[in-house]
Amino acid sequence: MKTFIPANQKGGVGKTNTAFNFTHYLAEEGKRVLGVDGDEQGNYSRVMSEYVQVGAGASQLFGDAPVVLPDVTGAITVLPADKAELRAVERAGASDAQLVSNLRMRLAELAPRFDYLVIDSAGSNSRIANALLFVSDFAVIPTKIDQDSIDVSVEVLKRVVSIRNSWNPGLVNLGILPNEYDSRQPAQVKSLKALLGRYPQHIFPAYIADRSAYREASAAKTPVWRLKSETDGRTKTSAREAAVEMRAVFRMLLDRMEAQS
Ligand SMILES: Nc1ncnc2c1ncn2[C@@H]1O[C@H](COP(=O)(O)OP(=O)(O)OP(=O)(O)O)[C@@H](O)[C@H]1O
Ligand SMILES: [Mg+2]
Repeated sequence: MKTFIPANQKGGVGKTNTAFNFTHYLAEEGKRVLGVDGDEQGNYSRVMSEYVQVGAGASQLFGDAPVVLPDVTGAITVLPADKAELRAVERAGASDAQLVSNLRMRLAELAPRFDYLVIDSAGSNSRIANALLFVSDFAVIPTKIDQDSIDVSVEVLKRVVSIRNSWNPGLVNLGILPNEYDSRQPAQVKSLKALLGRYPQHIFPAYIADRSAYREASAAKTPVWRLKSETDGRTKTSAREAAVEMRAVFRMLLDRMEAQS
C-alpha cells in the first residue's frame, strides 16, 4: 500500500480538491483505495460520503486496536473524520512519537487490503496532520500562487525534506503543485516564475488552473471529469478543460509513484 498525501499547513490551497479527485482517479485506474479524512472539518468525508465506512473513523488509526472494516466492497473505502474523536486524539496525553507508532501499526494491518492510501489532512500545524505526513510515502504540496501561500508552502517543502532526512527516508517529495492558478493575472505569473527560479527541482511541472468546475464538482460530490450539466446532462466545457488538465497532473503523479517499488 502506497501512501499519498497533499500536504500544506496553509488552509484553502487545494488539499481536499486534490485528494478527493485523485481517490477517484486511482480507483478508475483499477487500484483498491483507502481514503482517510484526518481533518476535523470533514470536507473530504462530505465529498466521499458515498464510500464512507459506517461505524469507523479516522481517529481509530491512532488507537491501540486494529481498525475493523466490515464492508469493503467497491474500489474505494473511506475512513471519515470522526470529529470529536479526532479532537480527543489531538488533545490526548499520548506523545507525538506514540501517535506515529500507533498509526504505523494500524496502517500496516490494513496494507494488504489496499493498493493506495489517500490522506486528506488539516490546513493547520496539528499533531494529527504531522503524524499523517510522517508515515506517508509521497507528498505533494498544493499551493495558491500568492505570497502568503508560497511562503508557507516553501516552509512545508523544507519540512518534507527534513522529515525525509531524519524520520522517514521513504518520503518522496512530489513537489509544489500550483493550484487555482490564473495565468491572466500578471502578479501570479510573476510569482510562479520567481518560485520556479528559486526551487526549479521542487516545483511540479504542471499546474491546476482556477476553474469554477472544481468547485461545482466538489458540490456535486463527483470527480471533475464526471461533472454533467444540470440542464442537458452533457459534460460542461469548463469541466472538460479541467478534466484534461487534472488527469494529466494525476497521470504524472501516478507514474512517479508506480515507478517506486
Ligand atoms: N483549482 C481550483 N479552482 C477553483 N476552485 C478551487 C480550486 N481548487 C480548490 N478550489 C476550491 O477552493 C476551496 C478550497 O479548496 P480545498 O478545500 O481543496 O482546500 P484545502 O487546502 O483542503 O483547505 P483546508 O485547509 O481548509 O482543508 C474549495 O471550495 C475548492 O472547491
Ligand atoms: Mg481540506
